[in-house]
Amino acid sequence: MNINDKIKHVAIIMDGNGRWAQNRCRPRVWGHIRGSSIVSDIVEEADDLGLHALTLYAFSTENWSRPLGEVTTLFNLLKKFLLKERRKILKNRVRFKVIGDVSNLPLPTRELINKLEKETKDFKGLKLSFAFGYGGRNEMINAVNKWAQSNPERPFSEEDMEANLYQPDLGDVDLLIRTGGDQRISNFLLWQMAYAELFFTPTKWPDFTREEFRGIIYQVSGRERRFGTIGATESLDESCLLARKNLEELNQIYR
Ligand code: IPE
Ligand code: IPE
Ligand code: MG
Repeated sequence: MNINDKIKHVAIIMDGNGRWAQNRCRPRVWGHIRGSSIVSDIVEEADDLGLHALTLYAFSTENWSRPLGEVTTLFNLLKKFLLKERRKILKNRVRFKVIGDVSNLPLPTRELINKLEKETKDFKGLKLSFAFGYGGRNEMINAVNKWAQSNPERPFSEEDMEANLYQPDLGDVDLLIRTGGDQRISNFLLWQMAYAELFFTPTKWPDFTREEFRGIIYQVSGRERRFGTIGATESLDESCLLARKNLEELNQIYR
């Protein structure tokens, strides 16, 4: 089975850092520090698996309402990641992008993001996106407004929406993984997840491993994705019809 036929774009809600730390009687930020240290491994695994795109939810629009200390730690961890992973990203020809509103991030971090995005924009390797200051509703509102500015007359279409999303060529999500045990979407990639397979694992993000990631990809790639068609059940129906026809013929003969 070639997993890449079915799963090209994986999105992950990296949840459970705070609880992971609290379970160990540590402050929540400790969980974020541990959580950010495994991101590099998961990116590498996505690359090894030949995925086309990996989108990681790192900070939502709703996360702005967390205590300032926690928010600042998350900003610092993003900056550290950018500094530490730069060389590897360039070496592996990964196309890096941040989606979301980063206007409130400190200037040096924004500069690092811009620089890495520019340097990697033509790379053909894994499309790695960090959703930071990201909200699915914001993304859609932003897309509609962007479009409306230049098209006052024409009705808005699905293609228009796609062309105006934060990253138009990212494509639909094939698989959403959420760690941490909760089973919800939390305002992530609302448009792109219309037909995503969903996988919720109780593992808290700092304990998530390459092996679990790979296992999930293989498990989900065995699922039948029907996209509204009747797929494999069609042949089942046909065989039922055939069996019924045979029965009717038999009934005729033995009447
Ligand atoms: C996910 O972990 C990281 C972010 C939301 C930034 P949480 O901080 O939400 O951890 P839990 O869900 O409270 O355990
Ligand atoms: C979702 O996790 C956002 C990120 C992982 C970045 P949250 O912990 O913020 O989501 P809720 O509050 O449980 O929905
Ligand atoms: Mg959470």
